[in-house]
Amino acid sequence: MTTKYTPLKDHDTPIKVLFTGYLCTVGIGYLFALIQILFTHGMADGKFGLSVDDIVYSYYGNRSGTVLEQKLNGSMKDKAPEQERFKIMEWVRDGADIDDYKDDGVDKIIESRCVMCHNKDASGIPDFTRFESLKALTTQDTGATFSSLIRVSHIHLFGISFIFMFIGLIFSFAETPTMQYKCIAIGMPYMFLIADILSWWLTKIHPMFAWLVILAGMGMAVSFSFMWVTSLLEMWFFKPVFINGLGSRYLQWRDSSATSIADRVWFYSKVLAKQVKRAAAFVTEQWLTRGWPVVKDWLKK
Ligand code: HEC
Repeated sequence: MTTKYTPLKDHDTPIKVLFTGYLCTVGIGYLFALIQILFTHGMADGKFGLSVDDIVYSYYGNRSGTVLEQKLNGSMKDKAPEQERFKIMEWVRDGADIDDYKDDGVDKIIESRCVMCHNKDASGIPDFTRFESLKALTTQDTGATFSSLIRVSHIHLFGISFIFMFIGLIFSFAETPTMQYKCIAIGMPYMFLIADILSWWLTKIHPMFAWLVILAGMGMAVSFSFMWVTSLLEMWFFKPVFINGLGSRYLQWRDSSATSIADRVWFYSKVLAKQVKRAAAFVTEQWLTRGWPVVKDWLKK
């Protein structure tokens, strides 16, 4: 196989040091990113560890009612009779307005039933003598706001694509994976990055898409680790791994005539691309011969 590039193992040592420094720093960065996810999203459902619930709470929110309503149906159920609890909940559903607070008589109920515990001397529970702390429990949690999603989306798209630009560039000098595997590994992170950002927005609309967030995150992690490990092994451990070690068996398997999974993925994506191209040509033709004249007539009128 003639290569048109310098394989990783043959690069000069300064370049290898540069590549290695970058890979190690980005690797540590990735670890911190995972810890950060564990601490922010991981705690969203009140339990440690990442779950689908966490993702739903982070992006979609907990829409099973406001905290006040949940408590009045839960641990605070015995603190006031049915009628009075109903009155409070009605007030919450009507928007928890400060004017209605007095007019509906909700202030009297809170004062007589709740303030004995929920006052300014109580520690750890909200003080209901202040209207604001009661009001804070009457809004529904709808998850991430649109402005925060917009901010994080563009930061992620710009920032992470840069990380994968350099990792992919370094990895493109690898010689052990076949051309197909290299293309898949280099292209995958970008697909998953877009899927990841898209899935946040979709989860904001419907909690069903939370699994897509997890899937896309895992896809990025898999391609990241594959490129990271392969690049470092080829640069510094080529002989012990790919000539004397387990890697040599991988190379044998790679060069055997049996079709690999990557070959098949490659084959089917080419078939698919051909179909898409044909379909696109058909749609364009239909549009030009049928759709556009109609629109043109319609515009003229
Ligand atoms: C006997 C004391 C007591 C009374 C009376 C009481 N609460 Fe509580 N409340 C607590 C305690 C203790 C907690 C914290 C434990 C929990 O969340 O169950 C709490 C928690 C809450 C919370 C959750 C606060 C948060 O930040 O998560 C809400 C809401 C609440 N109470 C509403 C009420 C309302 C409304 C009333 C009156 C109808 C009321 N409570 C009466 C003791 C009381």
